Amino acid sequence: MADATGNIAAKDYGFDTPQKNTVYELKGANNYDWGMKDRLSRVFDQKSGKTVMLAFDHGYIMGPTSGLERIDLTITPLLEYADCLMCARGILRTVIPPTFNKPISLRCSAGSTILTELNDECVGVEVEDAIRLNATMMATMCAIGGKYEALTIRNLCKMIETGLRYGIPTLGVNAVGKELVRDARYLAMGARVIAENGAQVVKTYYCEEDFEKVTAACPVPIVIAGGKKLPELDALNMAYKAIDQGAMGVDMGRNIFQAEDPIAMIQAVRSVVHENATPDSAFQMYNDLKAAN
Ligand code: R5P
Repeated sequence: MADATGNIAAKDYGFDTPQKNTVYELKGANNYDWGMKDRLSRVFDQKSGKTVMLAFDHGYIMGPTSGLERIDLTITPLLEYADCLMCARGILRTVIPPTFNKPISLRCSAGSTILTELNDECVGVEVEDAIRLNATMMATMCAIGGKYEALTIRNLCKMIETGLRYGIPTLGVNAVGKELVRDARYLAMGARVIAENGAQVVKTYYCEEDFEKVTAACPVPIVIAGGKKLPELDALNMAYKAIDQGAMGVDMGRNIFQAEDPIAMIQAVRSVVHENATPDSAFQMYNDLKAAN
């Protein structure tokens, strides 16, 4: 135990070496507090700066969709390949092993299902429970341009306020309504509105034309949702183009867990996101891994 007598006198003051301030390179994040940066640095890989988030929170609005009937059987084998999980607390508590020990983006908004009207939501998970679950990020739906725009922006702001209080980043997800056109003009506006309200990460869809305008005009990292299941090569193509045009990762669900070989697919997606593999070489990797399984 330290005491006041017999200590070696301090002498290594490094007078010639000024203390360095570290810069946190993640887009827009340098002025955040330490805890916020620490959490974000667990989501975005230190080397590539990117992330492969595995989304399987669909059940909170859709029930047991294809590939998510038994998350213990279908998602557990994928965990080791994901940088971060996006899920709801019911599944996290009941199915995901607490020894998983990787970042969790916790779905914290709730309210309606595909059977009624989507996005009529509230903040369904309070920050205390997010902390109890050791969530790294809290996620909420934002219906920009939709009927529940004001309500979901209020939810976003509430989550950001509580997140800032405890150093937990908020992921704002732009839930694009069926009536809206997913073009760069709309997606850029949605992403920007979510970021201007203070979200530290934005999740949005990819669009074929001018996606670089969406990422350029958003001051925080964008991760793309995969959307409906596509042929594997097309999904890899989309991930490649999104990253090439400034996305900092994917938060992908159906295009991974509904793939013919989900374990091969998540590894192929990783090679695109973290190693800039071309869609063709990632697809080759997918087929090789699938053949070997
Ligand atoms: C939708 O309810 C969730 O936010 C999903 O996490 C999101 O849509 C990403 O999943 P997918 O890649 O299947 O679109």
